[in-house]
Amino acid sequence: MGIGTLLGLWTRAAALGGMALSLTFLLVVSWHTTPYYLGPDIVFLAAFTPLALAPPSRWSVDAAVSRRLQLDPSQHAAVPEGRRQFLGTLTVATWIGLAGLAAGGSAAALGRLLEPSRTDAADGHATLHPPSQPTAGAAGPVSTADASTGTAIGRAADVPIGGSAPFADPTTGASAVVIRSRAGVYEACSAVCTHQGCTLEYRGEVLRCPCHGAAFDPATGAVLQGPARQPLATFDVRAPGDGNLYVSS
Ligand code: FES
Repeated sequence: MGIGTLLGLWTRAAALGGMALSLTFLLVVSWHTTPYYLGPDIVFLAAFTPLALAPPSRWSVDAAVSRRLQLDPSQHAAVPEGRRQFLGTLTVATWIGLAGLAAGGSAAALGRLLEPSRTDAADGHATLHPPSQPTAGAAGPVSTADASTGTAIGRAADVPIGGSAPFADPTTGASAVVIRSRAGVYEACSAVCTHQGCTLEYRGEVLRCPCHGAAFDPATGAVLQGPARQPLATFDVRAPGDGNLYVSS
């Protein structure tokens, strides 16, 4: 729809499709959003409207196809003009679609070639394995709670220096993240953005929200950048030397 409206290819149909899509996003995504919806879908809806109402411009693909057919009427004189216009535009649309697929595929392949070994671990994002048994040879299941140290969330060695690992808040089950900022120093806080609840990502030594760009200090939970206003809940983290990490609120 974007390419159609940009090039003037089946302009009105593409613009009507864009209006329908924008209206759908506006109604569906914004329904439960509080305190307000920041998506630009209402702007897109308005911007598509003149393209759906006005005839295609003389510089559009639609107009170019139309001019070409008028200049060469002898080829398919027996075919009605409307069908010729449709077939001519369909041919152009097919070529543009194939060119778009080729360009997109090439870009994706190039991206993979340039970063062949990119993994979660290479990004510093790790996965915590279940806590190990603190006492070697002890019988019975591993206890994940200890009144003096908090709740065990996993093995300390799983978190790379400068990296992070997600875990579930032992009290609420909500998303949380533990960060090993340097050797022996761990910080943990909620990974739920206080703006609209998106899950935060640890990048560049701060927790960033992929939805609207808020940033938080993982050590204190403080807001570094809006639109979020409330700080994150933080945990006390302990690594008492038994190989596990323990958190407490
Ligand atoms: S949900 Fe909006 S900034 Fe995080």
